[in-house]
Amino acid sequence: MSDAADRANRPTLAVLGGTGSEGSALALRWAHAGYPVVIGSRNPDKAAQVCARIDSQLGREAVSHDDYRGAAAVASIVVLTVPYGAQRSTVEEVRDVLTGKILIDTTVPLVPPKVARVQLPEGGSAVAAIQRLLGESVKVVSAFQNVPAHLLQDPAHTVECDVLVCGDDMQARETVIKLSVDIGLRALHAGPIVNSAAAEALTSILISINSRYKVNGAGIRITGLKDS
Ligand SMILES: NC(=O)c1ccc[n+]([C@@H]2O[C@H](COP(=O)([O-])OP(=O)(O)OC[C@H]3O[C@@H](n4cnc5c(N)ncnc54)[C@H](OP(=O)(O)O)[C@@H]3O)[C@@H](O)[C@H]2O)c1
Repeated sequence: MSDAADRANRPTLAVLGGTGSEGSALALRWAHAGYPVVIGSRNPDKAAQVCARIDSQLGREAVSHDDYRGAAAVASIVVLTVPYGAQRSTVEEVRDVLTGKILIDTTVPLVPPKVARVQLPEGGSAVAAIQRLLGESVKVVSAFQNVPAHLLQDPAHTVECDVLVCGDDMQARETVIKLSVDIGLRALHAGPIVNSAAAEALTSILISINSRYKVNGAGIRITGLKDS
């Protein structure tokens, strides 16, 4: 497909919780890359402010907003960027408009205050639990757990850490890898959705490393690949 055709065919992305740190940074990058983006939010005033900020950064009207259900309904790919405590209830709220779609879940099951300690939920992975909840009609893909929001906030900034992409459907993982590459990230197939437990756990390790070495952007980079 030519570049022009690729751009014309880009799917609409809904970022639920796109007013927050991770969601707004991803929304900015995808809008910058030419994707139609709808921010899903419980609060229209907050969402309008975030849209205005992104539009101003990009110099054009690039993002719109709606409530969670409205945003998820118009998108063909839905991205979940809400806190772990709101993950399941948010998915349940939009469940009936997710059928046949890809749900990209960025959730890390951190349990404050000990966020530098791995505390995965019963069953292992917060994201795999969502795939079990939704069943086969929704392709859940886990990604971005190890990419801190502040590294994404400037689309011109090169992000060196890798995105681990886990999901049971290979084609859905490919789609998420392309979405990552299009915003300047290297992303790797990291196996089925149960493997998301490792990506979720890694975030607490990175938080611990940030604290111990007094840095703010520890990340992971997979070595040994042919192009690395
Ligand atoms: N921050 C990072 O660097 C980072 C990196 C990787 C992954 N993540 C994951 O991304 C998700 C969001 O993290 P974040 O740091 O972006 O969080 P955040 O800044 O607190 O934003 C989360 C957004 O979720 C929505 N939300 C829905 N229910 C909520 C509730 N009960 N309490 C608070 N907010 C609620 C809010 O949007 P509305 O009020 O507009 O609905 C809020 O703006 C988490 O699952 C996290 O593990 C974060």
